[in-house]
Amino acid sequence: MPDKKNIFEEAWAKLNDSIVEYNGKPIGTKAASDNTHQTLNYDQIFTRDFAVSAIAFLMKGEYEIVKNFLLETADLQSKEKQFDCFKPGEGLMPASFRVDSKNGKDKIIPDYGEKAIARVAPVDSGFWWIFILRAYVKITDDWDFAHSSKIQKSITLILELSMVNRFDMFPTLLVPDGSFMIDRRLGVYGYPFDIQSLFYSALRSSKELLKSNEENKKYIDAVVERLGNLAYHLQKYYWLDFNKLNEIYRYQVEEYSETAINQFNIYPQTIPKWIYNWLDYDNGYFVGNVGPSRLDFRFFSAGNLMAILSGLADKNESELIMNLFQNHWDYLIGHMPLKLCYPALKGEDWRKLTGHDAKNIAWSYHNGGSWPSLLWVFSAAASKVGKVELIDKAISIAEKRLQKDGWPEYYDGIENRLIGKEARTNQTWSIAGYLIAKMIQEKPERVDLVNFEEDSEVIKCTKKVTKKLNNKS
Ligand code: GLC
Repeated sequence: MPDKKNIFEEAWAKLNDSIVEYNGKPIGTKAASDNTHQTLNYDQIFTRDFAVSAIAFLMKGEYEIVKNFLLETADLQSKEKQFDCFKPGEGLMPASFRVDSKNGKDKIIPDYGEKAIARVAPVDSGFWWIFILRAYVKITDDWDFAHSSKIQKSITLILELSMVNRFDMFPTLLVPDGSFMIDRRLGVYGYPFDIQSLFYSALRSSKELLKSNEENKKYIDAVVERLGNLAYHLQKYYWLDFNKLNEIYRYQVEEYSETAINQFNIYPQTIPKWIYNWLDYDNGYFVGNVGPSRLDFRFFSAGNLMAILSGLADKNESELIMNLFQNHWDYLIGHMPLKLCYPALKGEDWRKLTGHDAKNIAWSYHNGGSWPSLLWVFSAAASKVGKVELIDKAISIAEKRLQKDGWPEYYDGIENRLIGKEARTNQTWSIAGYLIAKMIQEKPERVDLVNFEEDSEVIKCTKKVTKKLNNKS
């Protein structure tokens, strides 16, 4: 049996080893410290990966590195309205950055996607930045920092970028394939739930963090309204339980009018067979994507767990989501928590939707692989729902192998048994994800740092839009 104390201590030592300094100050953690694979950009500080490290540091009481990161990334945020389409648009934050040291001088080199494999730009960086900021302020009470003009400006720039008028008329965000944790093609273009859920939590964070003054009033009002609209839309079109499945199964198609029931013209023939064994009367979840004639039934863990934390899922739905994990434990947790999505794309679907991506073959990497980094959000959600026994179970599974296997980036296989084919070892967010889970296991109240309580103003707004739009149909 591995020595648990030793695993925890080793994880802290490794997280500390991954710290990157800039001008003598800690500003982030590199994605992985692995010498056995090509480095590519794994030696860089990724915004989304650092979010997990940041929560671990904050829970431990180490605030400086998080503040430095927030300040540096605020500086890196693009501040100019761009008409040059090859430059990062106003408000965009980098996916990653590295520190170059030459002749005793440090220089930061950011990447907004212009160097990334397949040139994928990060839709999620700004949202993670706000999420980290909110946790930092929650634990330190450093409101002077949050209300400084620099930080307020960064928040409003992120809002401007994500709430700009577009061609469609939905409250959800239209995003390209590969623009978030899943940074390769996986048929997640359109309105992927992972991003909508993260967007919702970023809006909730902004509502708390924006200083109440004349200048910010338009942003605060817009945020509250968008939260209501987004919750309405996601609840109505993404939430799937047995009753909803039955409704879709009997959908009429080709309806023209504002009052159409099958608004997205979903053909019942597209319901995949696996769903009949997956859904039961005691479970439910938000589906992966909804758009014109498209309902992606795949289950994505990160967005669903984040929905529990942000309050997008109500109490009942949160329990149904956690039940889904319990009902399908062998696949979603299996031999290593936590599957990123279920099921995998196979055969022709895989060829067409991933572009023949060998890294994303069925049950590997993003395509049905398992990511220990997600242990943090699983443990936090389980604590919120009051199912702490699930945290114990998931951690003891992880402890059997994580350290022994060298803290891999991901695992492969239907039941998450194999170390990922191209997984990096010493992957920082695998380490930080485990540390957060352990700290929550020790003190379940620690979930407060990443949790959002019910907000009556948002609920009121959701009810208002529900009444308004349901009256039309
Ligand atoms: C991979 C992952 C991405 C992560 C990066 C660094 O590209 O897909 O989500 O941020 O590695 O770990």
